[in-house]
Amino acid sequence: MERDSKLMIRLSASEKALLEETAAEQGLKVASWARRVLLRGAKAEMGSEDTPAYGLNGSGRARPELLSLFCGPGGLDEGFRQAGFRTALATDIDKDCVATFRHNHPEAKTFTADIAALTPRKLDRIYGGEFAPFGVIGGPPCQSFSVSNVHQKDDDPRHNLPLAYAKLLKALNRRRPISFFLFENVPGLLGPRHKERYLRFKEEFQLAGFKVYEALLDAKDYGVPQERPRVFIVGINAKAYPGAEWLPPPPGDEVRTVRDTIAGLPEPVHNAKGLDPETFPVHPNHWCLVPKSRKFGNANLKEGQMFGRSFRTLRWDAPSWVVAYGHREVHVHPRGHRRLSIYEAMLLQTFPHQYELLGNMTAQVRLVSEAVPPRLGFSIAESIRKALGLPAARQERKGATSRRKEPRHPATADLFT
Ligand SMILES: C[S@@+](CC[C@H](N)C(=O)[O-])C[C@H]1O[C@@H](n2cnc3c(N)ncnc32)[C@H](O)[C@@H]1O
Repeated sequence: MERDSKLMIRLSASEKALLEETAAEQGLKVASWARRVLLRGAKAEMGSEDTPAYGLNGSGRARPELLSLFCGPGGLDEGFRQAGFRTALATDIDKDCVATFRHNHPEAKTFTADIAALTPRKLDRIYGGEFAPFGVIGGPPCQSFSVSNVHQKDDDPRHNLPLAYAKLLKALNRRRPISFFLFENVPGLLGPRHKERYLRFKEEFQLAGFKVYEALLDAKDYGVPQERPRVFIVGINAKAYPGAEWLPPPPGDEVRTVRDTIAGLPEPVHNAKGLDPETFPVHPNHWCLVPKSRKFGNANLKEGQMFGRSFRTLRWDAPSWVVAYGHREVHVHPRGHRRLSIYEAMLLQTFPHQYELLGNMTAQVRLVSEAVPPRLGFSIAESIRKALGLPAARQERKGATSRRKEPRHPATADLFT
């Protein structure tokens, strides 16, 4: 395990006072704030070097630009980034999502907005010129379609968000051709209750100018230690790519387990007021809900079993159940003594070690639950790249990522490949 080390910086008294004031404004200790700002700057510098690039247009560096709608914490974008794409603009209605996205994808322009209020001209203003992305990706909120939501309502306004997505896509595609789009959601969308709606969404995507494909994929078949079936709609520009055909990514052979992913981690910090994430062991997200219930600790909670509605204890030697938590329903650690830490849930979602979620505990539970696992996003990005005949991304300056920040926990090492 890598040991933490200190960095000393010489400052004048007035510079130090300025740093302290800025950090205090954000409610952070100066070291935490400075670490974040320094890492963000370094990631921005390294971004063009540690990200695989396509050799397009002879430039050797051009990476197809994406618009990311409903960007959340950026799980889907992270997968596309690893496959050589670059998110140029990312937007979400939630400020914790946008802050987290900005922190981890400093190359992108990020902003908070309701998708219903977006137009190509608004995107141009934020982009700083006419915005003509190569592709558009996004998964609208799934709660209104989820079978685990027992309070589904037919007039839920969230049902219309896929139509807002299709409308914006159509407007952008009319102006300058978009090569592809990707839409993600829960399998509940395929159920009888939403059948009409689903057909309408697909029709609107077709009318936007795309040949539409669909697939139900389970993350566990793509190197993710988690059962997470999701619906994907992929659209390929019908005029620009008349002969192209999208095929779902082929499933891999390897099934990754909870043990492969989180065994050996030190105990996380329990949630409390005034904590400094920079002092957490292993990772600034390695904290968990306080195990207040008496069920923890008296051997009630057994591997692989459910106790009541909200105590699901993970099995060591199987993939996790879906990481999709209500406020207090984070899965129980296989040892049964507490719930998972946010960092453990991030690893089950295949976020790379250097990824960090911002916001309070409640926000982080939401963010980690809603993300597309980056490894699944990567497999889909690869399948789209192949369908469009783009050359394979080549890894420039191989090893730059791991040189930048070594994993501090052996189980995370393979997340850096
Ligand atoms: C399923 S999550 C997206 C996760 C993301 N694709 C990822 O991989 O990290 C859906 C997101 O839609 C956002 N959202 C909900 N309503 C919205 C609206 N009206 N406009 C824009 N974003 C919205 C939510 O805040 C949430 O982050």
